[in-house]
Amino acid sequence: MANADSSSSSRYRSVLNLRRKAHIYALVVLLCITSYLLAVFHRGSRLTTALSLSAPCNHFSAESSKTFPRCSANFSEYTPCHDPQRSLRYKRSRKIYKERHCPEEPLKCRVPAPHGYRNPFPWPASRDRAWFANVPHRELTVEKAVQNWIRSDGDRFVFPGGGTTFPNGADAYIEDIGMLINLKDGSIRTALDTGCGVASWGAYLLSRNILTLSIAPRDTHEAQVQFALERGVPAFIGILATKRLPFPSRAFDISHCSRCLIPWAEYDGIFLNEVDRFLRPGGYWILSGPPINWKKYWKGWQRKKEELNEEQTKIEKVAKSLCWNKLVEKDDIAIWQKPKNHLDCKANHKLTQNRSFCNAQNDPDKAWYTNMQTCLSPVPVVSSKEETAGGVVDNWPKRLKSIPPRIYKGTIEGVTAETYSKNYELWKKRVSHYKTVNNLLGTERYRNLLDMNAYLGGFAAALIEDPVWVMNVVPVQAKVNTLGAIYERGLIGIYHDWCEAMSTYPRTYDLIHADSVFSLYSNRCELEDILLEMDRILRPEGCVIIRDDADILVKVKSIVNGLEWDSIIVDHEDGPLQREKLLFAMKKYWTAPAASEKTN
Ligand SMILES: C[S@@+](CC[C@H](N)C(=O)[O-])C[C@H]1O[C@@H](n2cnc3c(N)ncnc32)[C@H](O)[C@@H]1O
Ligand SMILES: *[C@@H]1O[C@H](CO)[C@@H](O)[C@H](O)[C@H]1NC(C)=O
Ligand SMILES: *[C@@H]1O[C@H](CO)[C@@H](O)[C@H](O)[C@H]1NC(C)=O
Repeated sequence: MANADSSSSSRYRSVLNLRRKAHIYALVVLLCITSYLLAVFHRGSRLTTALSLSAPCNHFSAESSKTFPRCSANFSEYTPCHDPQRSLRYKRSRKIYKERHCPEEPLKCRVPAPHGYRNPFPWPASRDRAWFANVPHRELTVEKAVQNWIRSDGDRFVFPGGGTTFPNGADAYIEDIGMLINLKDGSIRTALDTGCGVASWGAYLLSRNILTLSIAPRDTHEAQVQFALERGVPAFIGILATKRLPFPSRAFDISHCSRCLIPWAEYDGIFLNEVDRFLRPGGYWILSGPPINWKKYWKGWQRKKEELNEEQTKIEKVAKSLCWNKLVEKDDIAIWQKPKNHLDCKANHKLTQNRSFCNAQNDPDKAWYTNMQTCLSPVPVVSSKEETAGGVVDNWPKRLKSIPPRIYKGTIEGVTAETYSKNYELWKKRVSHYKTVNNLLGTERYRNLLDMNAYLGGFAAALIEDPVWVMNVVPVQAKVNTLGAIYERGLIGIYHDWCEAMSTYPRTYDLIHADSVFSLYSNRCELEDILLEMDRILRPEGCVIIRDDADILVKVKSIVNGLEWDSIIVDHEDGPLQREKLLFAMKKYWTAPAASEKTN
């Protein structure tokens, strides 16, 4: 039983409840499909369960019956590109060893959920509690007890909302920030929390319609990002070390660090320079914790006054070299603002600082294994001091539908305002079709969603009224880089290469959407490896929606049969004559055996 509150199996069967006549892809000549199709027509019936669908196709072909074994129980938290064991081979300096280092040989077994795993609490209850069995780690409940990060309570964890610089709760802390900058008028929508802990800051901003992506490395703050995800808060494993974070330039409205242990003053300010790259012109950087307010706290921090003073002076200098304006420092919080454009910065450059601008070959939107630099990323040129470089985005929620500046300025090849508006309508239609096939989509059953090939973020935009968040991935192999436009709409996402594992824990997502992913990667890496990775990051009883060319879907279907997924291929929204089809699948509920019955 996966969830105490509902019978998992009955619910599970109702999910792929097909309400309309399903037209199975008729061009597939494989016997099992055709004979099955005939049976459906003869009965003239509706298809009621996914289980009955997979049955006739079990004798597909020899290759389709390949099954992937379950990994042993110790893989239940396996993060291939952030494996604490493998990381030891890499340099500790600048925390290089905590960055992505992927294994050469992909894992060929299926990552198990820990024994006793249950469906997480639905949002918004999940903000405040999680099952112990899902993330069996009590370290932080002891280590961060005074800071109120997380408490243990029988079979569950409770998150009181505290953090290192806000032991009295994120809400009060956010109120303090809200006195200094306007968090209410919709001008701030996308946020990044670097060094997030259990991501309470992001969790509490959601009710204010601010969408935060939280990152932290897999380090001694045991399972912090896993807790964030379990809470239903957007997060992934990330670190400021030597590589750019996987975001385009000019993405976030705010970047936040509450005692996040990033040495902002060091290495010529390279980390702040990276923050500057992904901050929108006019965006804010918020810092709390050392060295801010050191006159009050130096003793408690067990640091020397002189040392803290020097650290702060250095940070101020770096901020100046980025042409940031120190907006305010009040009590425990300091806020800087990136300029709206670089007119003044260029004019005063030689006088005030020695940071040079990056040259034209250095694409500020490139961020996949790209080294961080100390040169300043230029922003688009403007003609007057009042103009915002790259264009102004509308306030949320208007912003979601407005034409993103990158699009109306024509900087995304082949994407016009018209393409964009059509795409918006198209995805509304597609998502409402999805909801007729899987009637749990849009309900509280699914919280963490992944769009593996997001293009303009249309899938996420169509779900905006639902209690979900969507991680929009723009594959590094995509024909055009659209991630900047996704951020301009007020949505969040990352770059990723699906030939590698994602920087996240197993069981991150309730639902994964893969539009044309397998055709994009068909000559690049093994389809089965992408599917195994999807299986790793999908929760038990999670759902997958794959849309692709029929020939590819047939191949995909033969692989997922060996993953303990139930699946069904259904027609395109526009009917059976479209070559593109949809595959709906559901990962079965299974876990590692209990410790005593462990076999290997
Ligand atoms: C003291 S905790 C503070 C957590 C949270 N901000 C809060 O206030 O409760 C420090 C955080 O910074 C993270 N961290 C340390 N070095 C980092 C780096 N170079 N890049 C990103 N995060 C880092 C740690 O993993 C941890 O999440
Ligand atoms: C699990 O245990 C096996 C055998 O002891 C070991 O080879 C493997 O590396 C372990 N896996 C992880 C992810 O620690
Ligand atoms: C600025 O100048 C100092 C002293 O000359 C030098 O050490 C530092 O590397 C320079 N920083 C940048 C970002 O160029």
